[in-house]
Amino acid sequence: MTAPAAGEKPTFPDPGLDADPGPAADPALDADPAWWLRESTAAARVLDGVARRTRVVRDAGLSASLGVPVWLKCEHEQHTGSFKLRGAYYRVATAAPATRARGVVAASAGNHAQGVAYAAAVFGVPATIFVPAGANPVKVARTRRLGARVEEVPGGVEAALAAAASYAAAGGRLLVHPFDDPAVVAGQGTIGLELLDQVPDLGTVLVGVGGGGLVSGVAAALRARRPDVRVVGVQSVLAPAFAASLRAGRRLVAGVGADLAAAPGGDPAAARPCRRPTLPRPAAPTPTPTQAQAQARGTIADGIAVREPGRLTLALARRLVDDVVTVDEAALWEAMFLLRRAGHAVEPAGAAPVAALLRYPGVAQGPTVAVLSGGNLDPAVAARVASLTARLADNAGVARTTA
Ligand SMILES: Cc1ncc(COP(=O)(O)O)c(C=O)c1O
Repeated sequence: MTAPAAGEKPTFPDPGLDADPGPAADPALDADPAWWLRESTAAARVLDGVARRTRVVRDAGLSASLGVPVWLKCEHEQHTGSFKLRGAYYRVATAAPATRARGVVAASAGNHAQGVAYAAAVFGVPATIFVPAGANPVKVARTRRLGARVEEVPGGVEAALAAAASYAAAGGRLLVHPFDDPAVVAGQGTIGLELLDQVPDLGTVLVGVGGGGLVSGVAAALRARRPDVRVVGVQSVLAPAFAASLRAGRRLVAGVGADLAAAPGGDPAAARPCRRPTLPRPAAPTPTPTQAQAQARGTIADGIAVREPGRLTLALARRLVDDVVTVDEAALWEAMFLLRRAGHAVEPAGAAPVAALLRYPGVAQGPTVAVLSGGNLDPAVAARVASLTARLADNAGVARTTA
């Protein structure tokens, strides 16, 4: 199959993830690094002047405790408070104008919603966002403030996605998928391109993983120029579908609130890994009573609480991503506390890379970047982080790793 011209969107059949990757069926699905570099470069041009080129700051405490330079990529300082603007805007910008004019539609627990609403506002077209009932109220309120109509849907992100898809199809509107779309993936990949300039000796990049658009986009954008950089995704152990699917070699649905062993498909740690796993395989942590409670409710990391990986994103990740690890809720809290002490108000999903550095220090090989992917904190979580940060400061172990 010939590669689509730059800007032309390929379609993505089910890649048959039960089988080995096999030969290329499609240049994008086959993770052709040159194709993705072109796509993300095109996205970067479109995003120029719209999305911020967020700064990277060195974290002195983590650098000292891990023995390698550790940088924080401040996507929580992006417009709308998360990286999601990048992919959403690029998708809306490259849509057929007639479709876009009929309105844009999305499903999201919050950050993608704001990215899509922002993009729709820039283009002056209506936006309708389907959010799962009980979504983070700050994200919902900000989405409304951006001018979008918000529809709450009972059930999780997947139920909201189904509602969005049928609404978009009924009116010929543009559906902007939160992760499983090549333009969205290419847009998120612009973070990888920025990192190539900002940290030229980059060794490892860590990002939070929900549906996998961010991790596959960053990996895809980097590979052509830096095949050696390790790209590691991070999920909550309470929402481990992507990590479990990579290990099993097929898409698994893992209930939010389920642990790894409970994911269908057997013991994920024993199954086939992804690109070139070099990390020791962490045992699934035994939940403490507090974690068990959290497990009943689901993870605090609402941004990455996705039950089902994307088809495109999982296919890309199998070829391009080095590993996806899981972190417990306590590590997410600790990472948020540490970041807050260093002046970064970061939501749980955005703190996941730092949580992984705390739990698995060996993951940081060479100069390491933790992408702080979002800062839209739920007020209750923000209050708890603020009140506990002072108490944690007294903890000698924590003090060692604090900037
Ligand atoms: C703050 C934050 N980080 C990471 C992610 C994961 O992104 P993806 O679904 O592309 O894996 C999300 C997804 O919404 C998010 O909101």
